[in-house]
Amino acid sequence: MIVGAGGHGREVLDIVEAVNAVRPAWRFLGFLDDGTPDADRLARRGAVHLGDTAMLRDLDADYVVGIGDGDTRRRVAEAAGDRAAAVLVHPLASCGADVELAPGVMVAAGARITTNVRIGRHTHVNCNALVSHDCRLGEFVTLSPGVLVNGTVTLDDGVLLGTGAIVTPGRTVGRGTWVGAGAVVVDDLPAGVVATGVPARVRRER
Ligand SMILES: CC(C)(COP(=O)(O)OP(=O)(O)OC[C@H]1O[C@@H](n2cnc3c(N)ncnc32)[C@H](O)[C@@H]1OP(=O)(O)O)[C@@H](O)C(=O)NCCC(=O)NCCS
Repeated sequence: MIVGAGGHGREVLDIVEAVNAVRPAWRFLGFLDDGTPDADRLARRGAVHLGDTAMLRDLDADYVVGIGDGDTRRRVAEAAGDRAAAVLVHPLASCGADVELAPGVMVAAGARITTNVRIGRHTHVNCNALVSHDCRLGEFVTLSPGVLVNGTVTLDDGVLLGTGAIVTPGRTVGRGTWVGAGAVVVDDLPAGVVATGVPARVRRER
């Protein structure tokens, strides 16, 4: 089951279906969502809304959190308790040697992860994102489409890189910091800020 039936959750279903097209691996039960998902959009996918996220503890099935916001992913994972989430890697993504993906990691189509990379729980690597050699990504990190994370970069827990952002080699981005779309990180960034621009500068506290 996928937690979150919005746009990102349905993209995660794409990954489940693409994996199954190569090798049947999952039987998709449906979505959990605390809101009112768009019934037409789910029907077009042949998917059902099983109920709210409180059901996560009771249903005996693998899960992934299909929610773009890292803080919300963290809350859902905490509500799930000790249960380990599934790892999803789109068949059109590539992972090199010596890559570790923790439970709940999602890697979308076109993403590239090279070598000696560690990625923490429930981190999402979206379409066409690059994570180069020797990087360390914490938990609940979000790499938006098209980001370029060069070698030996550290992204602490909860970091968001906006669409098309670039992190130059060896930089560290502190816990919970958001980097705006299109920004280029050339210096280390502290925890808990929003940074934008080229070069990326701290704009405000989060
Ligand atoms: C950086 C970001 C988090 C800022 O959000 P925010 O604090 O709500 O910012 P606002 O929209 O209120 O804009 C505040 C100012 O920052 C500027 N700004 C916003 N995003 C910017 C960006 N990416 N680069 C440069 N400037 C940006 C705005 O133009 C505005 O400037 P002004 O004060 O001179 O008018 C957001 O704009 C962003 O880039 N998010 C990433 C979204 C994304 O890629 N999501 C992926 C979905 S898959």
